[in-house]
Amino acid sequence: MSIRFDYANLLHSNKIADGITTAEIENNSYLCDLARERFKKEHAQNILGFYDLPDYQIGHITSYINSIRDDYDDMVVLGIGGSALGNKAIYSALKTVKKLNKRLHVMDNVDPLMIEDILSQIDLKRTLFNVITKSGTTAETMSTFLIILDILKKKCPDSYKKQIIVTTDKEKGFLRQLINEDGYKAFVVPDSVGGRFSVLTDVGLVSSAFIGVDIDALLQGAKNMREKCTKQSIWENPAYLNAMIHYLYMKKGKNISVMMPYVNALYDFADWYRQLWAESLGKRYNINGKKIEVGQTPVKALGTTDQHSQIQLYAEGPNDKVISFITVEKFDFDYQIPNLFPLLDEVNYLADKNISELLLAERLATEIALTDAGRANCNIIFPEITEENIGEFIFLYEMQTVIAGYFLQINPLDQPGVEAGKIATYALMGKKGFEKEADDINKYSKEKNRNGRII
Ligand code: PA5
Repeated sequence: MSIRFDYANLLHSNKIADGITTAEIENNSYLCDLARERFKKEHAQNILGFYDLPDYQIGHITSYINSIRDDYDDMVVLGIGGSALGNKAIYSALKTVKKLNKRLHVMDNVDPLMIEDILSQIDLKRTLFNVITKSGTTAETMSTFLIILDILKKKCPDSYKKQIIVTTDKEKGFLRQLINEDGYKAFVVPDSVGGRFSVLTDVGLVSSAFIGVDIDALLQGAKNMREKCTKQSIWENPAYLNAMIHYLYMKKGKNISVMMPYVNALYDFADWYRQLWAESLGKRYNINGKKIEVGQTPVKALGTTDQHSQIQLYAEGPNDKVISFITVEKFDFDYQIPNLFPLLDEVNYLADKNISELLLAERLATEIALTDAGRANCNIIFPEITEENIGEFIFLYEMQTVIAGYFLQINPLDQPGVEAGKIATYALMGKKGFEKEADDINKYSKEKNRNGRII
């Protein structure tokens, strides 16, 4: 069974007074035609490769994983952003449901304590390190790679070359050179697929296959959703419809998009979504070079946990959010709440109920409370957590993000705002070729210190 999109509370009603009307959606449907035209054109230019990934051939992944599976218990991914978040999200979603017996760790920061923590959990000799970087230049990934390479060379001198696999551009970059020199097993990030859209390439599929996820089923799910996202009518096309509604809400000043799964297993998908939505839509200029400064700040929340933290703000604070719940209908296992105090009304109403019943009741209660408070909300419903449903979800949000970017008339595939920070990091760390930037930073620091605003 497929995931479903319940958008009733995104539309105008007597409760959602500033909701989007069906007429507004219909009146803007010309934008869908323009988006389809642009999609067709850019797809032909080979920059929307994510759309073709449901047809991706995975034989090279499964045969490699079958050949090494017995040799390793853990995989450590060294990557960041689009080269890490999807891996983490798939693992978190399925590790309990499928009782996966391999472990995945994602080193997506240069925090020494995190590195130490991961290293303390693994048996080095039985761990495979998967270095993932499309550009092959990302400072965080390069530095953790150098640390791990050094440790492996010292502690596993005979096996380290087999313990490193590299996923990067098929030709460019320093890692390609190392692959050729040291003979590491290599996988490819296709040119046509941007980092944050790459989870269904070798980037996310290799680690997923390693931990025992059915990657064929992931792609099948993506294919099912692609089929839905080709529907001409916006009312039957979840990517176009959700993109349109979010776009219209952005125009009305709802600049925050909350993703709130009601299950811990899908919480990391809210992180994956945050990168996708933020990096793709947060843009200063439109495609005509006009300064527009658009985007919608993605926020993650967890139900029920954040009912006791965030919901007060969502219900009564500024009405500037669109809230997307994620619900799972069926759990493979459950806990029954025992009837330990039958005479105590404070707890006996819970007795003999499944804990998932409470979870779903609280989700619905929150939906009702927010709707009564006039807050736009919707629900992405997973019949259960399966590879197919996850593949559907991934494709839906990738497609929706690109289409929302088209509605905003921006480029959803680039991230120019991230570059300035990367350049400043190179300068601060003394990379050759960034001497002028280092000088500027020096001046900046002196000026800032002169003002003495630290107490
Ligand atoms: O979406 C993107 O392109 C970025 O967020 C990248 O995923 C991120 O910066 C990591 O880049 P790389 O894979 O080149 O190391």
